[in-house]
Amino acid sequence: MPLAIAQLGQPVLRAAAKPVQAEEIATAEFRQLLSDMKETMLASSGVGLAAPQVFVSRRIFLARIVPADPEKPDAPPSIDVFINPRIVAATQEVESAWEGCLSFPELLVLVPRRKGIRIEYLDPQGRSLTAELHGYPARVVQHEYDHLDGVLTIDRAASTRDIIKASEIKAVLGERGPAKVDPAPE
Ligand code: NI
Repeated sequence: MPLAIAQLGQPVLRAAAKPVQAEEIATAEFRQLLSDMKETMLASSGVGLAAPQVFVSRRIFLARIVPADPEKPDAPPSIDVFINPRIVAATQEVESAWEGCLSFPELLVLVPRRKGIRIEYLDPQGRSLTAELHGYPARVVQHEYDHLDGVLTIDRAASTRDIIKASEIKAVLGERGPAKVDPAPE
């Protein structure tokens, strides 16, 4: 069942989410939440979704970190689940790109992010994993991770001039020159 997405102004988007207990992960209720989150993310064509965005203040997010295979356009997208994630290392190098967010899809924000990160997390089987991510997947994961701490893209804008209506992106790129644009909201 697709869930309602919390929109900017909802207090849950500004709260620090609570960790998931190991014994919760195997429960039917938890599996249902993950399944509903996946459905919600796919229904809204997002590339990521954090639990606080569906009014669940827990440290869980989904992210599409494996790009779609152009050879298999009908294959279901691979969606990774990150439970109790911790970013344990990041490159010094920072890159800016325009990002959308499912909690305020009307806006795009130019957000500087670390180019590469290392993240530790639990998967839906409760296994402890580590991932090294670079470029776009690293950006998506940093965006979702921020949601767990109540941080939004608008907080990370270097200037309020870096917050625009999504509908006006072409005019902005024409004026300010090319910058990367995320293809999908998070
Ligand atoms: Ni978002």
